[in-house]
Amino acid sequence: MTTLFVNTSQVVTCRGPARARRGAELRECEVLPRAAVAVRDGQVLDVGEETALRARYPSPSHEVDCGGRVLAPGLVDSHTHGIFGKPRYEEHELRATGVSYMEIASRGGGIHGSVRDLRARSEDELFELALPRLRRLAAHGTTTVELKSGYGLSTDAELKSLRVIRRLAQALPLRIVATFLGAHEVPLEYRAAPRTREEYIGLITEEMIPRVAADRLATFADIFCEPGVYTPAEARRILGAARAHGLGLKLHADELEGGGAAELAAELGATSADHLAAVSDAGVRALAASTTVATLLPGTMLFLGRQKQAPARALIDAGAAVALASDFNPGTSPTVNFPLVLTLAVSQLRLSVAEAVLAATVNGAAALGLADTTGQLAPGFAADMALFDMDDVRELPYWYGDHRCVASWVAGIACHRSDGFGSFRGSAAHMRSNE
Ligand code: NIG
Ligand code: FE
Repeated sequence: MTTLFVNTSQVVTCRGPARARRGAELRECEVLPRAAVAVRDGQVLDVGEETALRARYPSPSHEVDCGGRVLAPGLVDSHTHGIFGKPRYEEHELRATGVSYMEIASRGGGIHGSVRDLRARSEDELFELALPRLRRLAAHGTTTVELKSGYGLSTDAELKSLRVIRRLAQALPLRIVATFLGAHEVPLEYRAAPRTREEYIGLITEEMIPRVAADRLATFADIFCEPGVYTPAEARRILGAARAHGLGLKLHADELEGGGAAELAAELGATSADHLAAVSDAGVRALAASTTVATLLPGTMLFLGRQKQAPARALIDAGAAVALASDFNPGTSPTVNFPLVLTLAVSQLRLSVAEAVLAATVNGAAALGLADTTGQLAPGFAADMALFDMDDVRELPYWYGDHRCVASWVAGIACHRSDGFGSFRGSAAHMRSNE
């Protein structure tokens, strides 16, 4: 069964090595005008000029008319906190009056507010809340999404969050990767006698991580390594335990103030170091010399109203592998719109469109250990694709805040389809049956 995706204005292939692109490699993003894509068994079989492809596959079982639009690899959002209960719009307004993010947290709000709320909710309730949020994320072109726990901060509530992620992965066509973030904060009940933060760290390393690993509930472990939250020494211990149990490593590194977390990520060979708005020059050099993907989240700094963004140009020019992600969460980045993150990447991080697109596809996949599976439209890669209503890929970051994704597919199966996209020729039954 071969499906041909035809009548595009462009196919953005992102074709190249199946690993993170770094430095100058990020300038080269292949875009083929009026090309077509052949898909078989959920994988890309062939990509090329439409007439040539039609000649190679003269009688495909299905044909999808892309309506003269841009077909691209589905976006890979490698950093979200998508499992939460209530939104936190009060804090948004509070920050506008001058109360900082860390100040809100020190008053028991921020992450702590989400923790109180999540602990009180059932697994079913959290699942029902996450479903429409993830559908909105998918509607903007995301086909792979990483989801973190981290609003539980107790063994039960962390495992509950991770079970919700597992159920979402079974319920949705999205490609979903789970990350354990028990070290998102030190919970309030471990900050005063008789309990200590030391005990909480012990709980993470001795109880949570072994159980997460035994039940195969997460691929990665993450930590908020930041002055006022976890120190690099604590991160070393917690991530050491995670590694010993077979989990990949991620860090919220140098997000607001900075303190050597990027250097630690590079030293540990973490899969990614995320945020980096306050990374030092030494941290930039360390990341550039490492295999750790530097994941930038410009939506967070925008939403927090901070002037400072991560030094994206310095990172790329030093040779680092830069990825982009949404950081979708109720406190610092409540956006499901990944193309908007690409806008910020161009307008505020000074990336070229090629750099931004590769950072949101190939390098997002690398930040999840999936660079050989998804992120590019090349033979052998998963047919994870997004169709954008535009003539040229440069419009993707240009129409900022707009909603241009009309359809997406994960492993060739329809994931999202907007009302305006009904032009599946000869394939309607196939597409319907897979929804
Ligand atoms: O990536 N910095 C830590 N975690 C999130 C925010 C979580 C929250 O405020 O709820 C972030 O910015
Ligand atoms: Fe985050």
